[in-house]
Amino acid sequence: MANKKKNNYVSKDKKEINEKNTSSKNIILSIKNASYRYSDAEDDDYALRDVSFDFESGKMYAIRGRSGTGKTTLLSLISGLERCTEGEIIFDGKSLKDMNLDKYRNSDIGIVFQSYNLLPFMTASENIILSMDVNGSKIKNKKEKAIELMEKVGLKETYADRKVLRLSGGEQQRVAIARSLSYNPKMIIADEPTGNLDKQTETEILDIFKKLAHEENKCVIIVTHSGNVCDTVDVIYDLKKFKEESSK
Ligand SMILES: Nc1ncnc2c1ncn2[C@@H]1O[C@H](COP(=O)(O)OP(=O)(O)OP(=O)(O)O)[C@@H](O)[C@H]1O
Ligand SMILES: [Mg+2]
Repeated sequence: MANKKKNNYVSKDKKEINEKNTSSKNIILSIKNASYRYSDAEDDDYALRDVSFDFESGKMYAIRGRSGTGKTTLLSLISGLERCTEGEIIFDGKSLKDMNLDKYRNSDIGIVFQSYNLLPFMTASENIILSMDVNGSKIKNKKEKAIELMEKVGLKETYADRKVLRLSGGEQQRVAIARSLSYNPKMIIADEPTGNLDKQTETEILDIFKKLAHEENKCVIIVTHSGNVCDTVDVIYDLKKFKEESSK
């Protein structure tokens, strides 16, 4: 077997000292010694090496690290787009290895991207309804539900019929968050969701994520370079390359 390189991962649980009873942890997702190597990589060239993180419902997390430390790769594993090369990921007590990953992606996790990934020539509500349709939602009045979700993220009903093309970046990200909530997932994961936004708008978007975690018991995981995000979350996980660490 190839010479094992080990990454160094650090957790900063900002609430830890205030939590009297840590045994009552409500873990929704557990990453256990996960490694990932892309198929075209050299034998010991792992994009991610031996990562173990736990995530609880009702908490907001940041995953940070320099470019190339494997943040996006980790989100691909968490969202079931890729499978671990070694180790495993447990969601709600069940290994992703034993799960139908399409079903998992379409019901248990909501994904939010830096560039929103909405269909620009459709209206805000049509984008959300499309997601409900793709996920086989049985909701009777989908438009009403879309408007309800939009209001939850601070968008008035009048935005529902506006084409995405005519919304600001911050408004588009709100629609994208509303879309990610359309099937009421237990977990929301976001890759640099505020990377294209100004600081004030970033703070407003972070407030939405915070409410989803603290008031609706969702587990929110955000990959970020932003200090503002790290100041807002409950727990920060740092991804570091083995080489970075050993050269210090
Ligand atoms: N499709 C791929 N094929 C081969 N190697 C890849 C692929 N995608 C990423 N990598 C490699 O895996 C490592 C981790 O990449 P990843 O995109 O996860 O980093 P990141 O932390 O998200 O970086 P950034 O902050 O720049 O987005 C890098 O060395 C990268 O070159
Ligand atoms: Mg990335």
